Amino acid sequence: MSDPSEERPQDWAPATRLVRGGLQRSAYGETSEALFLTQSFVYDSAEAAEARFKGEAPGYVYTRYGNPTLQMFEDRLALLEGAELCRAQASGMAAVHTALMGLLKAGDHVVAGRALFGSCRWILKEWASRFGVETTFVDAADLDAWRGAIRDTTRVAFLETPANPLLDIADIAAIAELAHAVGTKVVVDNVFATPIFQSPLTLGADVVVYSATKHIDGQGRVLGGAILGARDLLESAYRDIIRHTGPALSPFNAWVLLKGLETLDLRVRRQAETAGRLADMIAAHPKVRQTLYPFRPDHPQHATAVKQMRGGGSLVAFDLGDQAAAFRFLNALRIVDISNNLGDAKSMATHPATTTHRAVPAEEQALIGLRPGHVRLSVGLEDAGDLARDIARALDRA
Ligand SMILES: Cc1ncc(COP(=O)(O)O)c(C=O)c1O
Repeated sequence: MSDPSEERPQDWAPATRLVRGGLQRSAYGETSEALFLTQSFVYDSAEAAEARFKGEAPGYVYTRYGNPTLQMFEDRLALLEGAELCRAQASGMAAVHTALMGLLKAGDHVVAGRALFGSCRWILKEWASRFGVETTFVDAADLDAWRGAIRDTTRVAFLETPANPLLDIADIAAIAELAHAVGTKVVVDNVFATPIFQSPLTLGADVVVYSATKHIDGQGRVLGGAILGARDLLESAYRDIIRHTGPALSPFNAWVLLKGLETLDLRVRRQAETAGRLADMIAAHPKVRQTLYPFRPDHPQHATAVKQMRGGGSLVAFDLGDQAAAFRFLNALRIVDISNNLGDAKSMATHPATTTHRAVPAEEQALIGLRPGHVRLSVGLEDAGDLARDIARALDRA
């Protein structure tokens, strides 16, 4: 066995990285990570301030640029992800916005998976287009569609996998190969998989984004986000946009998220175990027309899911036939909450067509296979037997 004193944090297993990674104790030797709730920093002299601003002396200058609590969160998540650098962001959407806009300029082209969280779709379709960036949306599971859409001016390939809300799986390694052949950067929103079950950078992605609001907090408290990747790329593409547009995470939120990371591995493994059991139970119910869970053999991209994921995740989607049945199901739940959030300790279910994907036009909903009967379930940490009874009773009433 190796001597622990010689081990680097990179040698630790994920569970250890999540508890110990990035820890920087102050002079007081506190057990828990210190919360540096400060906007700015002071200097011993004018010369010291100048040196710090020039980058010639180490230290922090302003929390919009960096802060010790933010640094601990960034270092811990980078260590878990196997990334050289992480930049914390105020929310998942701040992370997606910065990650995309930092790579793009007028005249550039983006290829994106069609099944995206509504706000991600809005950024490309409504916002980036105002600045002369054109986006082609493709079925992310169809490699020929990516092959046909990527062209010389394509700067970014953007995808979610599993995608929100129907858990479509895209082959990250194959898309990265197609993209890299023409110098296109691959940005993956890894929210549904979590860093525990999928490592996009290892599969060939250039940038990974998270809504830390979801599983990383996982206890319904704060918004947060993160961008991860190679140091050179993050410095060149994102350093200035972050400094000057101000999507910085609050140190308080970073502290909450550090605590969330400590238990992330335990929580998502337990959630995924329960989700797999519930998916099988839901699929066997006579009122259910379709059940989507990446690790069930009947998932359309099951082979890709098991190739690139280490677990099926904590979300299940299913079709109850029509909106009225889906609403009856949601209204009959007694333990599971009706909520559009996900990744929480509390189980939550939503009707995507009228909530998270309400702004997606009907023809686009049809293209991604989203039907009025679909329900998305985020499985929490309650007892699996209690959840199974609650869901079975609600299905009977659907
Ligand atoms: C896949 C995905 N990406 C990004 C986001 C945005 O995250 P946030 O709400 O933290 O801005 C969400 C959910 O809200 C999401 O489901």
